[in-house]
Amino acid sequence: MSCRHFLTLKDLSSDEFRALIARASELKGNPAAAKRADGKTLGLIFEKSSTRTRVAFEVAMNQVGGSALFLSSNDSQLGRGEPIEDTARVLSRMVDCVAIRTFHHSQLESFARYSQVPVINALTDDYHPCQLLADMQTFAEHRGDITGKRVAWIGDGNNMCHSYINAAELLDFELTIASPAGFEANEALVAAHSKRIKLCETPQEAVAGASLVVTDVWASMGQEDEQASRLAKFAGFQVNSQLMGNAEHDALFMHCLPAHRGEEVSAELLDGESSVVWDEAENRMHSQKALIEFLLNS
Ligand code: CP
Ligand code: NVA
Repeated sequence: MSCRHFLTLKDLSSDEFRALIARASELKGNPAAAKRADGKTLGLIFEKSSTRTRVAFEVAMNQVGGSALFLSSNDSQLGRGEPIEDTARVLSRMVDCVAIRTFHHSQLESFARYSQVPVINALTDDYHPCQLLADMQTFAEHRGDITGKRVAWIGDGNNMCHSYINAAELLDFELTIASPAGFEANEALVAAHSKRIKLCETPQEAVAGASLVVTDVWASMGQEDEQASRLAKFAGFQVNSQLMGNAEHDALFMHCLPAHRGEEVSAELLDGESSVVWDEAENRMHSQKALIEFLLNS
């Protein structure tokens, strides 16, 4: 059975992406406008930790009359080696939608291939599209249309960076990226979106003229044993007020969180006026509610 999945942002057209952002803001202002999902269940399969993504999905489902069923790999047969394909066949006969947070993106794709119900990427090593729904909603709420603007990505060329690359293509903004040597974004993905991307030698160059500056942790989930060595390799890539001084005067700062103050971002910037990280975090709930509504009614 074919159904809509949300494995990367590229599963949406530009118009659908823009409509989801607008719908998320609408639902934020008027939660009662959300389509009901009475009796519907969202399965949450999480093989990595989460605060925002999990709570956003659970609260969103509760608010529209449905429920969420959380399964960590420790609690399910997945953790004991049951194939992802079998898990997909079984779970998708019982629930109405599934969100998965896992390591290899190919695991998510395998699940989707065997699922009868929509599958959502709740973060893989390669992409974090749900976060981009909230980030783009937050930018729109603070600054309006992002089309034609410059966005700077500073730091690891990771899952978040890859989703920013997809967003740049869909929403037609310019993405400047500065990463330490050896931590660049996926080369093929960059090449495929070269029209929208500019690779920069330094963070200063990347933030010049930027309306939005974004960073993320230097060691992602699953890379904990590289934390110490990355600290040295990422030196000079901290986003702080001094660096923001090179961006547009009203540039916003975003971070998907959790943040490490004093590493990828200074405390004064994260907790300062240009930072919209708390709105960004709140918008995870509104945008994921809009996403569920879209997928359950597609
Ligand atoms: N930003 C984000 O995905 O947060 P969690 O890991 O807490 O879900
Ligand atoms: N890049 C981070 C994002 C966390 C929300 C990670 O994968 O751990």
